Amino acid sequence: MDTLTELNKKGFVDEKIDPTLDLFAEIEKLKKEKNAIILAHYYQEPDIQDIADYIGDSLGLSQEAAKTEADVIVFAGVHFMAETAKILSPDKKVLLPDFKAGCSLADSCPPHLFRKFKEKYPDHVVITYVNCTAELKALSDIVCTSTNAVQIVESLPKDTKIIFGPDKNLGAWVAKKTGRDLVLWNGACMVHEIFSREKITKLKERHPDAKFIAHPECEEAVLKMADYIGSTTGLLKYTMNSDANEFIVATESGIIHQMEKENPGKTFIPAPPNNSCACNDCPYMKRNTLEKLYLCMKNELPEVTVPADIILKARKPIERMLQISASLGL
Ligand code: 13P
Ligand code: SF4
Repeated sequence: MDTLTELNKKGFVDEKIDPTLDLFAEIEKLKKEKNAIILAHYYQEPDIQDIADYIGDSLGLSQEAAKTEADVIVFAGVHFMAETAKILSPDKKVLLPDFKAGCSLADSCPPHLFRKFKEKYPDHVVITYVNCTAELKALSDIVCTSTNAVQIVESLPKDTKIIFGPDKNLGAWVAKKTGRDLVLWNGACMVHEIFSREKITKLKERHPDAKFIAHPECEEAVLKMADYIGSTTGLLKYTMNSDANEFIVATESGIIHQMEKENPGKTFIPAPPNNSCACNDCPYMKRNTLEKLYLCMKNELPEVTVPADIILKARKPIERMLQISASLGL
């Protein structure tokens, strides 16, 4: 096995796997042996989604992490999600298949700069999107996800002054939906910012009956074209409840696996990005593979830890979000 230094360089245990091994069976065995649960985000590769105990959006994943009785949480997602699980279940071991599965949106908001930004608005309540570091959550009053961002803002009195970060696109959409004037941090997700309005327009012309659905992390110009805007769970539910047979999907392409599973016979077209690549994969989410998932469960590495003082401070705003969501049945 790798030394810790090697692991930190690569982000995962780089060990040869016997090619005859049935990884699905081995992972199932490790799950039982270690009393482990696999939580996977919709953006993970299909094999990982298929072996997960729970697949969901950021809100669902944190709710599962808070209530699980497993000893080990294997988080098939990105670093900020695993950190959130650790904050909510600090006594459990939290594993991430690839330690370098980060997030461009979380990176766009360094905590030391956000602290200075916050100082300019001392009478403001700070709401942060869950896609940020544990340190940033520790500087927040309430956390939100794309499923509950509108309701979290609306849970505060109308005259509350609010800073919203780090995603400016989600923030602008929430401001529009709630009619509130939010002070926005200028952050964004590299996957959702890259969709091409021109290419989507052409695609819509070729598929006139298709519904165009988009995640609120997309830019306003793209959201304006959408028939429906929502979190990954919202988008999935929309495809299940809609009479339409074709959908153009503006979010990370991993979600299409569940859309196809839930809607046999319907067609899903990934919205095209503004570059020559035909895909819209998140390079961080897609660092996790079935092989890395197996190795991380076998070696119980890489493990995600959060300093105790940060856990203490970051827990409150996350729990506040979970309480508000539970009271609204979200
Ligand atoms: P949701 O699954 O909560 O909609 O978030 C999408 C996302 O960007 C996760 O990184
Ligand atoms: Fe971060 Fe965007 Fe990837 Fe989600 S899709 S993990 S917001 S970079």
